[in-house]
Amino acid sequence: MKILFLNGPNLNLLGLREPEIYGSATLAQIEAKVRKHAAKLGAEVDFRQTNLEGELVNWIQQARGNFDVIVLNAAAYTHTSVAIRDAISAVGIPTIEIHLSNVHRREEFRHKSLISSVCRGIIAGFGPNSYLLALEAAVNDIRN
Ligand code: DQA
Repeated sequence: MKILFLNGPNLNLLGLREPEIYGSATLAQIEAKVRKHAAKLGAEVDFRQTNLEGELVNWIQQARGNFDVIVLNAAAYTHTSVAIRDAISAVGIPTIEIHLSNVHRREEFRHKSLISSVCRGIIAGFGPNSYLLALEAAVNDIRN
């Protein structure tokens, strides 16, 4: 099983960025945890980050035929991007929306996700464990 982890804007700053909200782990540390756990589960992982909306759209499009599942932390684009929503819908690859923080406990503008309705499921609020839970969901739910 091949899983594509995509990370959107400002997630390259994890560790420095608002640690009271996002924790102290860097994205590289989260990636290392994901890779270790994926190896145990027998899943292959690609893990990417970009600050650019169009790059996320390109990566989602290119995933067709190359990945079984996408795990997407679209970050701020979650709340704004019709283009990312349409890309997920167009490729038809099961996509899991994730967030480090519980977006529903935060500002009102974060309560609306434009991508949830085209995603298989949502995991939010568990910090770096949101990534590991998504990996479990990909392997246990979507593979079967
Ligand atoms: C986030 C939540 C978003 O609202 C925010 O814009 C982010 C990160 C999270 O992982 O908690 O950049 O996706």
